Amino acid sequence: MSLLLDEVALAAARLAEAGVESPRADAELIAASVHHVRRGELHLVKDGDFDARFWADVARRAAREPLQHITGRAHFRYLELDVGPGVFVPRPETEVMTGWAIARLGEMDVAEPEVTDLGTGSGAIALAIAQEVPRACLHAVEADPLARAWAERNVSKYAESLPYTAGRIMLHAADFAGALADLDGTVDLVISNPPYIPVGAYVDPEVSEYDPPAALWSGTDGLDAIRIVERTARRLLRPGGLVAVEHGAPQGAAVYWVFTEESGWRDTRNHKDLAGRDRFVTATWSGEGA
Ligand SMILES: C[S@@+](CC[C@H](N)C(=O)[O-])C[C@H]1O[C@@H](n2cnc3c(N)ncnc32)[C@H](O)[C@@H]1O
Repeated sequence: MSLLLDEVALAAARLAEAGVESPRADAELIAASVHHVRRGELHLVKDGDFDARFWADVARRAAREPLQHITGRAHFRYLELDVGPGVFVPRPETEVMTGWAIARLGEMDVAEPEVTDLGTGSGAIALAIAQEVPRACLHAVEADPLARAWAERNVSKYAESLPYTAGRIMLHAADFAGALADLDGTVDLVISNPPYIPVGAYVDPEVSEYDPPAALWSGTDGLDAIRIVERTARRLLRPGGLVAVEHGAPQGAAVYWVFTEESGWRDTRNHKDLAGRDRFVTATWSGEGA
């Protein structure tokens, strides 16, 4: 055993006591971040190189600050995004919905599909689509200026390393309701991970104290923003265009009805996340609704 691995074991025990869900993984990831190595390379750090700042970061995690705020990074599909105060930390659940959209765009017989990401936050969904479907044109909408600054930072970061994303992601300071009126009836795919937590519901401290309120809460049933996304999608989509919207695990049936109760949607479907919980709804716009 190395000194660092001994310290990681102690830190994991401390994080477990503090109620952290994945204490060993978090202790290892903090150690890797502090020592600038991969998680699988911790045994290579020499005892003399042990950096005591490790324990300062463990104390932050024990106080339930999100791991991604401590390391400053969040992984999303093939991206490493910069995150911190003021922006929602992208979640693995959203990777599944984004993968669905990427697969549908791959099948679409459209040279340069127009895609709208409503509530882009860090830019996670828009950047992943731009990276994996390089011919797509992305319109990323975000009302919150703090979140938008993180999206700008991530888009610039990837504009350098992936030159084909340059100019293919447009960030828009707008509200879902009135966003992108000049694109009405032309968009091929609308995707959104909107706020969907019912006001007053319990969430872990990592969420309630660090994710921005505008990214979380959405009326008494949690569906206010999803209803607006439904209306905005019907306005933006061309006939045959697709929508995908994320929701909370207990909201699958309710979100299915948000779409099926309105005329003009067809092929409305519930989809599950990797844990087998209802997680997003997709539908096709017929072009014939009110
Ligand atoms: C749950 S976060 C999702 C962020 C990112 N798409 C992701 O999946 O990681 C929702 C985002 O929508 C933004 N938002 C909430 N209501 C909005 C509205 N009415 N108009 C525009 N953006 C909004 C929030 O500021 C937040 O960044």
